[in-house]
Formats: sequence, structure tokens, C-alpha cells
Amino acid sequence: MRKSLAVALALGLWTDSLVWARQPVRAAQAMVVAQEPIAAEVGLATLKAGGNAVDAAVAVATALAVTYPFAGNLGGGGFMLVRMNDGRQAFFDFREKAPAAAGPNMYLDKDGKPTRDSVVGWRASGVPGTLRGLELAHRKFGQQKWADLLAPAVKLAREGFPVSYSLSQSLKSAGRVRANAPDGSVLTAGGILTREADSKRIFLRDGRFYEPGEIFRQLELATLLKRVQERGVNEFYEGELARHFAREMAAHGGLITYEDLKNYQAVERKPLEGTFGDYTLITAPPPSTGGLGLLQMVNILEGTGYEKAGLGSAAATHYVAEAMRRYYADRGEFLGDADFVKVPLTSLISKAYARERRASIDPAKATPSSVIKQGRPTPGESNETTHFSIVDAAGNAVALTYTLNGGYGSGVTLPGLGFLLNNEMDDFTVKPGSPNMFGLIEGEANAIRPGKRPNSSMTPTVVLLKGQLHLVLGAPGGSRIPTGVLQVFLNVAVHKLNIQDAIDQPRFHHQWQPDKLYLERGFSPDTIELLRAKGHPVEPNTFGVARVEAIQVETIDGKRWLAGGQDGRGDGKVAGY
Ligand code: GLY
Repeated sequence: MRKSLAVALALGLWTDSLVWARQPVRAAQAMVVAQEPIAAEVGLATLKAGGNAVDAAVAVATALAVTYPFAGNLGGGGFMLVRMNDGRQAFFDFREKAPAAAGPNMYLDKDGKPTRDSVVGWRASGVPGTLRGLELAHRKFGQQKWADLLAPAVKLAREGFPVSYSLSQSLKSAGRVRANAPDGSVLTAGGILTREADSKRIFLRDGRFYEPGEIFRQLELATLLKRVQERGVNEFYEGELARHFAREMAAHGGLITYEDLKNYQAVERKPLEGTFGDYTLITAPPPSTGGLGLLQMVNILEGTGYEKAGLGSAAATHYVAEAMRRYYADRGEFLGDADFVKVPLTSLISKAYARERRASIDPAKATPSSVIKQGRPTPGESNETTHFSIVDAAGNAVALTYTLNGGYGSGVTLPGLGFLLNNEMDDFTVKPGSPNMFGLIEGEANAIRPGKRPNSSMTPTVVLLKGQLHLVLGAPGGSRIPTGVLQVFLNVAVHKLNIQDAIDQPRFHHQWQPDKLYLERGFSPDTIELLRAKGHPVEPNTFGVARVEAIQVETIDGKRWLAGGQDGRGDGKVAGY
């Protein structure tokens, strides 16, 4: 027996890869991995009380709207992917929609230049979808009473909770101009909460910033949540809350009307499915572009043997980056809300199309993005189209990603209602050829139309191994979500790392435009030089590539274990029992 193996066994530190690696948190029954610890505990309590994964998702999502205002929300939207233990699966799309008064050139000034109105202020918001989405999923799969599931959020808002170090830092960043977002990203959190009186009063205490350990109460939000708890989601979309919402919008030059709220509907869509060896990936359909990207990238990589060069090597990094670059080139051209535009979906995720795209990759040299054109998928397909992961004791799984877009969204808190609004309108193509806040360049397929949903990168995903639940994962991180999720999947499926180790590895990102290969800290100077020699304009030590929160189902000595991986790029929590 190899000495390292003997030592590992003696210390109980066996891992599949026979190397020393940070271990995931393991639990035998059920688990929640979320980006904010109090909300993770709320989810765990729901599971222990007999709730299923969808019940826990409702409790976690509403708790996050209180404890994690950076991205948890009632005023945004997102996607929930459900896979039940009997094989049923569902994708709930509660992405925001453009208001009826929105139109293609609404964010251009008189010279045709993009303004900042899609990012900041009252005109930046799409019609929020979060509560309708949670309601729809709960109606289909929930077991516990809606009112019980909202009780923790009501209590957290009314009684308050101790401010953590990271929330204190995050609020300070949003209260001071020119600071960065708490996850080190390039988003717009700097000063975002300083512009509107209610945001300043509630989140910044008018400049007396919350310090760690102080209690943060949100009384207006508590009142709103209580009404939604008692009267249901219609109160938010059609009742007095909706009228109040619409009045404030009109008073401040915003676009969302009572009719927009009343007409908003969350929809159930068919998830996308693809394979990679023995793995089946179940993931997000349009208006997510992320699920499609994930499948396109694994299809390009499958069977190439790229991994033989070794995890983190220049050769492997180069090859995966070339696959990323090709997906993002297609994304800009073909993807938009499939309820409005024809997306050649089946072709884009086919193995045949991946073969064509793969053929253009030179294993030795980077292909400049300027010479990468979109591929030629077969046209005329059908119109189908903060993250947390949950697995319950019965093996039902939920992957939920939802967002305000930028940290703290548009910076607007609706007076009297106490919640922040999204700036999701910036995810549309404001002007073809102009980058959005994530630097993404997209085209006409993603143009603004009334009632349309903007493209999203959110990629909640469930992976089966030989038909059995194996991974539940997803991430926040804007355009870096699909590449972050891809790398964690590959680290598990190809490099055989445990889920925590898979998340901990340094990640990289290429999105076609700008033509840069972004590397997180952790790549050696030699590797960086080799990548440069291959022709990559490398940006080393850059921002984090998404924050992946994942659960892996393992079998150890014939027993099922849940292994939770929490992304150290932030400070979430694995909560299990
Ligand atoms: N708002 C970020 C995304 O949906 O991709």
C-alpha cells in the first residue's frame, strides 16, 4: 500500500484522489448550501420540520430577501430548478419582464449613446418575478403551508438579526462611492445605496453604518412580508401593495405600472438536458443562456482528452478557454427570450454542432476573438425554452438562483415597502455592440420589447450519474456563472475532486469579448507565461469567477452521504443533518 494511502486511511482522511484536500461538510439526511448563514439555517429548520426541498427553497429565498439584501430579493427574479426523487423535474422561470412602456432605444441619449439609466435608478427595473415564482413552485410541489414558510422571514425582518462582518462591509461599500462589491467583483455596489432617501435610511442608517453585531431591523419589509404571508402573493401583484408600488413608480418617473404587476406571470418550462459520458446535466433553458452554454461547452470538451495535460496546466486551461470563447460568441448572436425570438436551441446543444465548433480549436494557439465568428446552427427550432442548493431526506433537489442583477440592484427602495428593486433592464441589449455591466456584447435577439425577459447567465443545474442524483449546483456572478459552474462540474466529473476541493480550485474565465483570459489568483507565474505564449491576453489575479454553492451525493461504504461545498470566495454556509 502506498504510504500516502496508508496515512490517509489511518487518519480517516481518505479521498478519491488520494491527495490532501479540504473536505466538504457531510450530512446523512438533508442539506442546504446558501450564501448567507442565517438563511441556510432557516432552510435546515424547514427540512427538519418535515418540509421538502421546495418548501425549504421558499423559506430560504424569503429569508435571504431579509438577511442578504445584496442579492436576496422580492424585487428581482430568477430561476428554480426542481428534480424530485421520482424523476419529475421542473424549471420555474420568474425572470423579470420589461414593462409595457419599455422599448428598444429607451436607454440611449439624443446622440445614440447608452445612458446609465439601465443600471441605476427608477427606470432600471424590470417587473419583479420572485414571489410569483416561489408561489408557482410551492403550488406544484410544496407540502407545508405558505404562511409557515414565510414566518422566519417575517420574524427576521421584524425582530432583526445581528449584522455579520461581511454584511457590514457590504453595506459600507454600497454606502461609499468607488468601493467594490463584497465578493470582489466589478459590479456597481460602490455608492449604489446613497442615491435614494429610503435606501440611505434603511440600509445605511443615514451614514451611521451598521457595525458587526448590531441588530438590523426592517420594519416596512416586515409589514409587507406579513401581508404576503397572510393574504398570499396576489397582495403583492394585484392588491394594495401593488397599487402602492405603482403609485411610487409613477411619482418617481419609473415605468412599472399596476397593469404590469397584475399581468406578470411566472412560467414553468422544460429544463434543458444533455450528457457528458455517464453524466446527465439538467439545466436552465432560455431566457437563461447559461444552461445552453454549459451544455455547449461540455459537448465541445467531451472526448477530447484535454484533461490529460492536468488540472490547472496551461494546455488544459487553454483548451477549456477556447470552448468558452466559442460559446460566448454564439450567445451574443443567437440568444434571446424564446417567447419572442427563434432560438436555434436543439442545434446549439447538439453533439454535431459541438464537433464543428471543436474543429476550429487549435490546441497550441489561442484563436483571437476578432476572427471567431458565430457558428451556423440549424435555424427554426421550437420556442421552448444568489444561488442556493438543497437536497431533502427523500432525495428531492432544488437549485435556485435569483438576483437583483447588480449588488443592491438599482439602488431604489420602494418608499413604505422596504425592499430593493432590480436593475435587470441592463441585461437586455441596450445598444447592439455596446457592452453591458458585465462587459457582454449582445445583439438584436436580446433587444428590449415590452413584456420580454432579458437574457440571463444564471445556471441552476442538477447532474445525474448513471441516472442517480449526483450534483446540485449553481452560482451568482453575472457572465461568469456558466464558466464557474462548468469548472466545478469538470473538477468533479473529470478530475475526480471532492465537491469542496472542486470549488476551491482557482478558476478562469473567457467570454469572447473583451478578448481576455481572466485568471483568479492561484495560477503559477510559469503557467501564466505559457498561456501568454499561446497567444492569450492574460489578466492574472483578477476578480472571482462566480461563487458556486453545491451539494454532491456520495456513496461511502454503501451508505448515502450528502457532501456540501461552500464557496470561500464569499461566506455562506453548509447546513445539514
Ligand atoms: N443578472 C445577471 C444574470 O441574470 O445573468
